[in-house]
Amino acid sequence: MIGILYFSSTSNTLYIAQKIQSRIGGSIKYIPNYKGDGSEFEKIILLTPIYSYGMPTFVYDIIPRLNKTKELIVIQNYGGMVGGADYFMYQYSSKHGLNIKAVYVLKMPENFTLTFTLFRNFTYIEF
Ligand SMILES: Cc1cc2nc3c(=O)[nH]c(=O)nc-3n(C[C@H](O)[C@H](O)[C@H](O)COP(=O)(O)O)c2cc1C
Repeated sequence: MIGILYFSSTSNTLYIAQKIQSRIGGSIKYIPNYKGDGSEFEKIILLTPIYSYGMPTFVYDIIPRLNKTKELIVIQNYGGMVGGADYFMYQYSSKHGLNIKAVYVLKMPENFTLTFTLFRNFTYIEF
């Protein structure tokens, strides 16, 4: 069985995890509650949002302990700017000896409300 490991704060990534499961099957695990290393799975799909051109802390934490022989495919999703997070993910996983095969990025609705607030304020600046 495929392991679909995901982190999500506002459900965009969970949505993708469920879509993948509905097409190819697999067992969905929420990374903060998952204590394993993925060795019970035939391969691992890791789903994560991009946070500040990187990844959420839970994802930084799980990568070093994942099984190093299982094939790993990463799907990152983002709201507007990847900023090299996909390359960084590949480097970070390789550095920890993982059998990473691919990193994909997928655009989803933006949930970083701070950005919206800033843009809104900029709009109202008068010169
Ligand atoms: C703290 C934080 C940082 C973010 N940083 C980025 C970023 O650097 N680039 C980007 O395109 N989107 C960024 N986003 C937007 C999310 O990656 C995007 O909306 C994602 O789909 C959220 O997934 P989720 O609903 O599963 O948490 C950020 C969101 C948050 C909350």
